Amino acid sequence: MTTSYDIAVIAGDGIGPEVTTEALKVADAAAEAYGFSLVKNEYDLGTERWLKTGDIFPDADFEDVKGHNAIYLGAIGDPRAPVGLIEYGIIAKCRFDLDLYINLRPIKLYDERMCPLKDKGPKDIDMLIIRENTEDAYAGMHGFVHKGQPLEVATQTMVYTREGVERPIRYAFEAARARNKNKQVTLIDKANAVRAQDIWTRVFAEVAEEYPDISTDHAYIDAACMWMVKNPEWFDVAVTPNLFGDIITDLGAMLQGGMGIAASGNLHPGQVSLFEPIHGSAPKHAGKNVASPVAAIMASSMMLDYLGQKEAGKAIETAVSELLISGELKGVKTGEQPCNEVGDLVANAVRASVAKA
Ligand code: IPM
Ligand code: MG
Repeated sequence: MTTSYDIAVIAGDGIGPEVTTEALKVADAAAEAYGFSLVKNEYDLGTERWLKTGDIFPDADFEDVKGHNAIYLGAIGDPRAPVGLIEYGIIAKCRFDLDLYINLRPIKLYDERMCPLKDKGPKDIDMLIIRENTEDAYAGMHGFVHKGQPLEVATQTMVYTREGVERPIRYAFEAARARNKNKQVTLIDKANAVRAQDIWTRVFAEVAEEYPDISTDHAYIDAACMWMVKNPEWFDVAVTPNLFGDIITDLGAMLQGGMGIAASGNLHPGQVSLFEPIHGSAPKHAGKNVASPVAAIMASSMMLDYLGQKEAGKAIETAVSELLISGELKGVKTGEQPCNEVGDLVANAVRASVAKA
């Protein structure tokens, strides 16, 4: 019997549906080539549904989604909804309620021409950012007093638990061990100003003791932004609290060619996990077949890797990389190449690479 995986698909808003179609086209091509199958269940979630019915993520849908091997998400967000409503109702809900405590964001440059930095190439830009994914300023502990009045007070608490800090740090050390680079983990924080982040300093030092084969480094987030631009080759694996991870991975995305290529996995190792491109829903480009599906395709590669189909995941990554280098894939910017053509190109390259092997 062929191995099959159940995938919950949330195509979402804006360009989400079109890039998802291409990403799954490629994932299916890889599945077929490597002898497994993906059973996809689509969930109508996002701003359109909220506008029509008022539903964001009904419990019944959520329970259903949970029962899959993985979740694939296109993009969420639309200016017709209040800021954060749909984002918190869907993506943050998955992150928190499925306890997807790792946000794994690889930053890898495939083709020198895509890099905005002078004299930096693929050998310099290859790092893994491990973003903590359930705590920090994202934990949702916020409030307002005297709302709308001159003396209004607004607060948002940065929350860190020992377990919540330890698990991404441990994951980072394991990832550094598994990778063939500098065998180094950098802690990125702002413990000199956000004093509660002292817990990150302490837990990092404790966990590091268990990994004598891995060297450690530290950078405050402001300096880390500078070093990532100046000397990206210094980074191997970096681990950081949620909010800084959100910010620095946008910077990282630019180093690897832009939001059109950056992908991520929201993971709870061993449990249902969620894969998505880092980019947003870009409503103004929606439905025109101009968005680049490459980031979405890279997210599907990460999903297959997570499901244990490592060769299939790798085949997708290699196909994208080779097509970029050969120039058949013109780039990952909006409007450079029709969305569906990019999907066909990568799917065919994946099939061809397996037929050749
Ligand atoms: C991301 C996004 C989200 C985040 C938004 C949509 C809430 O920017 O996944 O990086 O801030 O985590
Ligand atoms: Mg972000």
